Amino acid sequence: MTSLIVHPSTRPLTGSVPVPSDKSIGHRALMLSALCHGKSRIRGFAAGDDNHRTAAALRAMGVSVEVSHREVIVVGAGLFGLRPPQAAIDCGNSGTTLRLLLGLLAPQPFRSTLVGDASLSMRPMMRVVSPLRRRGARIDGKPHASRAHDLVAPLDVLGLPEGEYLGALEHEGEVASAQVKSALLLSGLYAHGPTYVREPTLSRDHTERMLLSLGVPLETMGPIVRLDPAGWNAQMPAFDLELPGDASAAAFLIAAAQLVPGSRVTVRGVGTNPTRTGFLEVSRDMGAGLVVEPRGERGGEPVADLHAWPAPLRAARVGGELVPRAVDELPVLCALAARAYGQTRISDAAELRVKESDRLATMAVVLRAFGVGCEELPDGLVIEGRTEPLLPARVASRGDHRVAMTAAVLALAGSGPSTIEDVDCIATSFPRFVGTLRALGARIDVAH
Ligand code: S3P
Repeated sequence: MTSLIVHPSTRPLTGSVPVPSDKSIGHRALMLSALCHGKSRIRGFAAGDDNHRTAAALRAMGVSVEVSHREVIVVGAGLFGLRPPQAAIDCGNSGTTLRLLLGLLAPQPFRSTLVGDASLSMRPMMRVVSPLRRRGARIDGKPHASRAHDLVAPLDVLGLPEGEYLGALEHEGEVASAQVKSALLLSGLYAHGPTYVREPTLSRDHTERMLLSLGVPLETMGPIVRLDPAGWNAQMPAFDLELPGDASAAAFLIAAAQLVPGSRVTVRGVGTNPTRTGFLEVSRDMGAGLVVEPRGERGGEPVADLHAWPAPLRAARVGGELVPRAVDELPVLCALAARAYGQTRISDAAELRVKESDRLATMAVVLRAFGVGCEELPDGLVIEGRTEPLLPARVASRGDHRVAMTAAVLALAGSGPSTIEDVDCIATSFPRFVGTLRALGARIDVAH
């Protein structure tokens, strides 16, 4: 198991760096190009293990997916050209791969099995399985260990007998979830009848943007989306798309720049879709030094360079519609809160309990290890900002990439070297995280 030894920064972080390509958009671009007709090109692909899991899953269904230097060529099989996989599809740590594939596999005329690693095999799947079953899908899974009526992987998707189709669906979700929404829309491409999804507040809308650009008959109104395939020819043209940089990965570097005195960091080409910018908005409210310099569009998504430097931080209240727009950045937001003046309260974030780890519990342990006062709420955290240097800590990531990276950022503000254990998981989303921080001037040793 690999550990990081992170030394407190004695000099500023400086430089201009890229981040991996957007993980969410990467999954969607791979899956949709596999359903298109012809050869698609996905440029700027610099992804972690999660996106590679999606690529491998599509290959297992007979789609040619060739990844070469920062570029993927996918030869689409068309909506009805996927072939039965010969073995269980291993989604690794990737919840997005598994949940979106459920939507794609449910309408197929063949059987498939989806498995994942220990963390993914504990994550609740009924939120996708239940609406899919309501429209006629046949999916079985393992009962969840502690949540009655929930299911976990391995999941068996039995497919549909010849001549049977998925029906119309009206779904009103209790929590905003782009994975659920996207799975239902993917299944809706094959359904006989419309798909209507309403979220409490709008979650990331990359799937909707991409489907619209491919001519799929889809309408959106705020948190409502409706896909009606009636009269559609079920053909999507191959496309050429350049991926934006991942806003969630960029958040770690922005936070690091806030925590190390004198820093000047630019993160280039980051996606700034408003459904993903909650972290930037909260950081600005907290007083962070941050300028967003728009750089046009990539593949129908806004892109910007982010310039960050340290400024005195004040506590914030984070809840409501901001939560889905910052859902993956809430751990690293805790790092800002740890260094802010006053008490930060995060609420409406019970979803964090079912991410790669229970992020409310893991972050509470990590923050306390660094000497930061933290109270765990059922749906959030209360964090007491600490203005004196953080304590050197030894913390475990619990296999959660975003917890590992947040701990590394916190360690930069420590009063001695800190050890972050179990960091191989960082490769799921940001394989060059350590290299990028080192390039900016951080001192980090890797211990095996
Ligand atoms: C994602 C949606 C979010 C997010 C995840 C990626 C996506 O999950 O946390 O990292 O790409 O659709 P939920 O849909 O469970 O909120």
